[in-house]
Amino acid sequence: MRTQVAIIGAGPAGLLLGALLHKAGIDNVIIERQSGDYVLGRIRAGILEQGTVDMLTEVGVGQRLKAEGTPHHSIELVFKSQRHAIDVHGLTGGKVVTAYGQTEVTHDLMGARQAAGLLTVYAASDVSIHDFDTPQPKVRYVKDGQYHELACDFIAGCDGFHGVCRASVPKASITEYERVYPFGWLGVLADVPPVSPHAIVYGNHARGFSLCSMRSLSRSRYYVQCPIEDKVEQWTDQAFWDELRRRLDPELADRIVTGPSIEKSIAPLRSFVAEPMRFGRLFLAGDAAHIVPPTGAKGLNLAASDVKYLSDAFIEQYVEKTSAGIDGYSERALRRVWKAERFSWSLTTLLHRFPDSGGFGQKIQEAELDYLVSSRAASTALAENYVGLPL
Ligand code: APR
Ligand code: PHB
Repeated sequence: MRTQVAIIGAGPAGLLLGALLHKAGIDNVIIERQSGDYVLGRIRAGILEQGTVDMLTEVGVGQRLKAEGTPHHSIELVFKSQRHAIDVHGLTGGKVVTAYGQTEVTHDLMGARQAAGLLTVYAASDVSIHDFDTPQPKVRYVKDGQYHELACDFIAGCDGFHGVCRASVPKASITEYERVYPFGWLGVLADVPPVSPHAIVYGNHARGFSLCSMRSLSRSRYYVQCPIEDKVEQWTDQAFWDELRRRLDPELADRIVTGPSIEKSIAPLRSFVAEPMRFGRLFLAGDAAHIVPPTGAKGLNLAASDVKYLSDAFIEQYVEKTSAGIDGYSERALRRVWKAERFSWSLTTLLHRFPDSGGFGQKIQEAELDYLVSSRAASTALAENYVGLPL
């Protein structure tokens, strides 16, 4: 089998890249390790920057997003038991973020890909990539007990943090930068109306960080910072709701509608960047190249901006016959990646309880938060980063 671009991984990065390339008439095949049902069952983030919404609309999956997504004009910061709104819309000249689950994004992109008759090989095992330092790269995999080889012009490594693509690059050719945070996020999904349907709420409290988000007007997503050693079985639903309430302002805490969790999990927080993002004819995009802690809601949006740059580069290559886009991909993508890394790290540092920072650390955070909500300049910087820096 042969294609122009072989895409490894059918997460948001791989699916969106496939859609952008198809729209430009560039042939592509996606090879995914998991089944389609497994990919659809993963619960992930759910805040889209306008640039991400625009891309999804451009590839023809904007309809349900427009109908069911919830635009947020502001975010709220809770500290010292008081809530402060940041008017993101007003401070950025009218930009918003949209609450729409990554699960829904994946669902829509999968549906469109299937309707267009494009090939995605799900449940492929032993996926390996070869000869990407030559003009004839190949992907090998096993499907239903049979060996297959896919020849291609380029390989797009969209296979997430634990994928095979980054791991296939010789160690001497890649530099990795990493920070692991000493806590986790305990997340609960519940079919209850969100306490704050118009704004995401980020809380700083001596007991730790908290976050109120949503998937729809009848489905809420909440998080509390927890020790990384905690096991999810230790946390009853009741213990979760009690802890969340303690960390919010009294008015919000009173208003929370609780209910049985339909998903509950603990996620670690990590900052990670691998440089460069291109190795001959292999290109990394999304979580395969970088991870951000979820505090800034940037993970999915960075995957989208990477594949926008990458699809532009391939289009230049195939349509305009110039390799300038391909040659510049890594540098272009990394400039935006590092700004989002900085933002996600700084928001994580500002809002979480660190084991060794003590009362002094708490006071410094409160002073910075106070400055943030009372200075138009500081609020604007936050808002600008939150809605997404320009592509
Ligand atoms: N071969 C084929 N597919 C693989 C392999 C492999 N060896 N290893 C992993 N995959 C698949 C995974 O099963 C997954 O479906 O690659 C896909 C990677 O998807 P994501 O992890 O969702 O990464 P990405 O598409 O870059 O999306 C980034 O999604 O997970 C969030 O926090 C992340 O929001 C960010 C966004
Ligand atoms: C979510 O809705 O899951 C969410 C929202 C905002 C974040 C992180 C996660 O910063």
